[in-house]
Amino acid sequence: MSQTIYRNGEYVPEEKAAISPFDRGLLYGDGLFETLRCYEGKFFRLDRHVERLRGGLKKLEIPLTLETAGFAAVLQELVKQNNVASGVARIVVTRGVAEFGLLGKHAEEPMVLVTCWAQPAPDPKRYETGIRCVVANERLSSGAHGLKSLNYIAQILARREANMANADDAILLDSHGHVAEGSASNVFLVRDREVITPALQPEILAGITRATVLEIAHAEKLPVVERTVNQNDLFHADEVFLTSSVGEVLPVTRIGSHWVHLGQPGPVTREMIRAYRALVQREAK
Ligand SMILES: Cc1ncc(COP(=O)(O)O)c(C=O)c1O
Repeated sequence: MSQTIYRNGEYVPEEKAAISPFDRGLLYGDGLFETLRCYEGKFFRLDRHVERLRGGLKKLEIPLTLETAGFAAVLQELVKQNNVASGVARIVVTRGVAEFGLLGKHAEEPMVLVTCWAQPAPDPKRYETGIRCVVANERLSSGAHGLKSLNYIAQILARREANMANADDAILLDSHGHVAEGSASNVFLVRDREVITPALQPEILAGITRATVLEIAHAEKLPVVERTVNQNDLFHADEVFLTSSVGEVLPVTRIGSHWVHLGQPGPVTREMIRAYRALVQREAK
């Protein structure tokens, strides 16, 4: 069934939501996006997503006229029109159409697209059994500048590597061979109850869920460390989990042929899953 889409101030059926063939998002990946999960028509920490989007767009010098309240109103309208309870929403902002050439001079209006579609929550079994990951050969480059840009080639190649190996997801290393993140998530390790995650750097997206998990860990008085993480740390971890807005806190119980925590989600991961969901219940609006 055709979805309604928000496109620069209008609600249009998807088949009418035309984008110029000269849009720079399409030509160069010159734009950013945000993905949020929809919980019974509500969203968790939309303000943080809009803040991250705004910060990234500022760096790219792409103006954004909508504030959090504006995005909230658009999302509520899409929830209604598309009849979404459990679902996913995506905000895409590109520089729009500009003069030919990389500089993007004389850009016209930026293209703001918002979509929100019904999608069941991820399979609950994944949280019970955990998922299998591979460490991808594909590396992340610092060219990503910590932005959630429209270029996901490295992540797509890594996910395809995982798929070829019959795994669910891939963990990517940076150009120095340090653990960076999942293909669409941040990575956490637990060792002796210490919660460890790679320190932020240009290869790593400052995940909203990552920040929330750090907040929960602090609140629960668990020791937290943000530092360089080596591949070896992954294989010596008591527990490993991935975090993202759509997947929440997802246990990793196998990395390549190595079992993590004997193939079961560990106690800290289980606690994070519980505490994150409780926070969503309290805060989503
Ligand atoms: C590359 C990458 N890293 C991390 C994340 C997690 O970010 P968040 O928790 O804000 O969803 C995502 C989410 O899509 C991602 O694509």
